Amino acid sequence: MIDYQNQTLAVDGVPLTKIAAEFGTPCYVYSEAALTAAFEDYRASFASLDPLICFAVKANSNLSILQHFARLGAGFDIVSGGELARVLAAGSPADKVVFSGVGKSEAEMEMALNAGIHCFNVESVNELARLDAVAGRLNKVAPVSLRVNPDVDAKTHPYISTGLKDNKFGIAFDQARATYHAAASLAHLKVVGIDCHIGSQLTDVTPLIDALDRLLALIDELASDGIVLEHVDIGGGLGIRYTDETPPDIAAYAEKVAERLAGRKLKLVMEPGRSLVGNAGVLLTRIEYLKLGDEKHFAVVDAAMNDLMRPSLYDAYHGIVPVEKKAGVATMTVDVVGPICESSDFLGKNRDLAIEQGDLLAVLSAGAYGSTMSSNYNTRSRAAEVLVENGQTRLIRRRETLDELLVNERELLAK
Ligand code: LLP
Repeated sequence: MIDYQNQTLAVDGVPLTKIAAEFGTPCYVYSEAALTAAFEDYRASFASLDPLICFAVKANSNLSILQHFARLGAGFDIVSGGELARVLAAGSPADKVVFSGVGKSEAEMEMALNAGIHCFNVESVNELARLDAVAGRLNKVAPVSLRVNPDVDAKTHPYISTGLKDNKFGIAFDQARATYHAAASLAHLKVVGIDCHIGSQLTDVTPLIDALDRLLALIDELASDGIVLEHVDIGGGLGIRYTDETPPDIAAYAEKVAERLAGRKLKLVMEPGRSLVGNAGVLLTRIEYLKLGDEKHFAVVDAAMNDLMRPSLYDAYHGIVPVEKKAGVATMTVDVVGPICESSDFLGKNRDLAIEQGDLLAVLSAGAYGSTMSSNYNTRSRAAEVLVENGQTRLIRRRETLDELLVNERELLAK
């Protein structure tokens, strides 16, 4: 729970003022209870289908967060060898891992085959050929699902919409059947499933259900061809509330999925990311300067676009609130901006905030695609991360030191 207690914003009862004093800013802070609640919402809603819930690691790949989900029984959706290394380091069994992505390298395929993952979500004919060759070389059989592009409009931001014909993702729907036949003919592949992922931050489940209906029709065609699939993976994509969105009700979504799967011998797999972590985290930052102008006022904070790219990259809205509600402080309209030398370095625009220089702010809904998309631009150390567990704080990622930022180059300086 992230709420005000005695006028101070707290995460599971721990005031953010205390966390800032102990760990410094900028700093990501997560509520373990909120992570658990989001996962349990999926598990309970889909209980009748006993799904494999594969957390999409790209949304938040902190090892302690992955470990927490692994302990709750989650599987993982990965998109790189690096993410595979993370989930294994976090203690996940490899056989609960699905590997998505359009550009898997031979080395990544080898790594995943040697680990023994649940399946490869293959996105092209040429990827099938490469996977068959790599598996053959290792004397293994690769479990394969084809990511099919159902050509439905997810009605979300174009940058995070992935299920339309002109996206780079997946195998075109009208080529899918032939591609399954091609896959089934390759000696070192075992066709086990089908998957799709049509976009992210969806607030309506209709496109998700339309996509599932298309997959099920294809599954039936394939069965009549003698290609019987074991699982259907419905991807991720459920949205969260950033401001006034009404996110889909997971139980209602589950009910619709259950209706479709009734009477079928299909294991359900899913790949939620944002909806498991997004509202479990905030980015805690301090106002370095208030810069008051004739036209515009700015709150220059110590977090920046390198810490949270979503506003700059997608014009995404994140709520921003003062950590302490102070009586007698005037409200002003400010752009909340970072120290980076770019006009696109903002976290929020035209926000009405009762603040003074030196105050702490919390950027809300920052648990998904926050830390994972951060960079070292302007040679800034990436933020620390803190997890609140049962009212106790635990540092789960140290703030990078300047030495760490220079290490890969310093020893390579010309003599
Ligand atoms: N599965 C696949 C194959 C995906 O590509 C994604 C996200 C997911 C699952 C998880 O989707 P979710 O449940 O989180 O919507 N950086 C963007 C979001 C990019 C999503 C990319 N794919 C953002 O900050 O909004």
